[in-house]
Amino acid sequence: MQLTYYGHATFSVVIQGKTILFDPFFTGNPSIENIDININTLKPDFIFISHGHGDHIGDAVAIAKNSGALVIAAPEVAGWLGNQGVENLHPINHGSPIDFDFGKVRAVNALHSSGLPDGSYGANPLGFVFTTGEGNFYYAGDTGLAMDMQLIPYWTKLDFALLPIGGNFTMDYEDAAIASDFIKCNNIVGIHYNTFEFIKINTQKAEEYFKNKGKHLHLPSPGETIDI
Ligand code: NI
Ligand code: MN
Repeated sequence: MQLTYYGHATFSVVIQGKTILFDPFFTGNPSIENIDININTLKPDFIFISHGHGDHIGDAVAIAKNSGALVIAAPEVAGWLGNQGVENLHPINHGSPIDFDFGKVRAVNALHSSGLPDGSYGANPLGFVFTTGEGNFYYAGDTGLAMDMQLIPYWTKLDFALLPIGGNFTMDYEDAAIASDFIKCNNIVGIHYNTFEFIKINTQKAEEYFKNKGKHLHLPSPGETIDI
């Protein structure tokens, strides 16, 4: 599967020719300030939003309106997007896998908080488990280490997972390695680190920590596309 990382927790994957964008935070994202990305040229088919914080919902309204993408988020977040004029919405919540063109998605717990940029109620933060004909993956969203992650292998044999590793607001890389055990997946893409002062990490130490446990930690550069 092709994965493009845009820094922080923003990335896209292509499945069956459909582009799926996650937590679009471009405007004000320090990790891409030197990269020439015009959000008006982004034409995703789907946008997933993990929770209401500004570093995740960021440019969702502009990109959704511009592309006509279907936006998938918790009901309260979807409702807020609807109030901003986004029309193509699919609210989801914990409970069951949901069919989309490209495969199934299950919303799972994220141990975090949520709230929308204007102070509106942001509902429970979510992670997403994707089961598709081209591979299975877990995007954890912003989360601390949680026992609930152990449920994921009962549902899906993961090919890779995107886990936050920056600490302070989420797991650090040591907890992400435990999460990797919980989800029975050793192929991890690290996200949500080095964007801001509070989440600065030593990436070389993080990579070595994973390597010593027989795991692989991918740290693509912002703007880089990898095959995973
Ligand atoms: Ni957050
Ligand atoms: Mn965040």
